[in-house]
Amino acid sequence: MDFKIGVLAGDGIGPEIVEQAIKVMDAVGAKFGHNFNYTKALVGAIAIDETGDPYPDATHQVCMDSDAVLFGAIGDPKYDNNPAAKVRPEQGLLGMRKKLGLYANIRPVTTFPSLLHKSPLRQDIVEGADLVVIRELTGGIYFGARGRSEDLTSAFDTCVYTVEEIERILRLAYEYAGKRNKRVTVVDKANVLASSRLWREVAQRIEKEYTDIETDYMLVDNAAMQLIQWPKKFDVMVTENMFGDILSDEASVITGSMGLLPSASVGRETSVFEPIHGSYPQAAGKDIANPLATVLSAAMLLESLDLLEEAQAVRDVVNRSIDAEVVTVDIAGDSKAYKTSEVGTWLAENL
Ligand code: IPM
Ligand code: MG
Repeated sequence: MDFKIGVLAGDGIGPEIVEQAIKVMDAVGAKFGHNFNYTKALVGAIAIDETGDPYPDATHQVCMDSDAVLFGAIGDPKYDNNPAAKVRPEQGLLGMRKKLGLYANIRPVTTFPSLLHKSPLRQDIVEGADLVVIRELTGGIYFGARGRSEDLTSAFDTCVYTVEEIERILRLAYEYAGKRNKRVTVVDKANVLASSRLWREVAQRIEKEYTDIETDYMLVDNAAMQLIQWPKKFDVMVTENMFGDILSDEASVITGSMGLLPSASVGRETSVFEPIHGSYPQAAGKDIANPLATVLSAAMLLESLDLLEEAQAVRDVVNRSIDAEVVTVDIAGDSKAYKTSEVGTWLAENL
């Protein structure tokens, strides 16, 4: 079959890791008889440099015209240290989410036995942890009204959620849980925030429709603690945008495999698949970054195209590369470290 894939490599290590995922997808194409046609487009700091816009219309068009989008990373230190910058790379990401209606960010967190020693947690706590954080991605405080008072001595951000927004992400979480271990944890701050009380109200209604799924409610501060203490107790965690931003980062490091974790953002239009680790500017251009999270994002992408066997083949070859210790410096430890490009080539050749 023929597929149109939008490729938004972005900033930092984005281009080099995306290149490896493309090698692997091409190997999938050759093996299973598919044709992936890639269209590259600009996003992030590089898009600002070249067009003044972090998510140019031309890029949006490429996304709209694609069957799926593979995304690298965005962000550049020259903007991080300049709070006065008028245009920021992150606006490209938020703009893309809004325009594509990507209301759900799905981050599976799994452990890799050979990497457990990298976890900041005790091995017995984290071993076997297997959860998914589902983050609402187009509402809440990241998209509410914000501003600065005229005399510049105060600033505000607003968190707004509608019943409809809450309902659709909850349903997605329940569907996910139905295919997994049938537990949903709804995370909010209902003891303080009105928007959280609405979340809980809606969840208490929706919960009744999914009788085979166990629901529990957890305040976000408590959830941050429990994630560290008992990561194994979670199956599907669903929460609003900012809580999800924070908790999904927390969840991603506990397994010791940050460089291996993929994500999917899904919604109204084309879905976007990206590694969770960000642009890692210190490593950009050095051919040392771990490409596995992007390769595993490509596996999620394949799955979204209903190419299930193909996705599994990608996961399998990733596991074999780890077993064979064909890995980048972040996981190599004292053994030989392979370059980003060498890992990509090995994966493609051994798929
Ligand atoms: C993420 C990122 C973004 C977010 C930033 C870059 C705006 O941290 O995808 O989690 O917070 O949404
Ligand atoms: Mg984040």
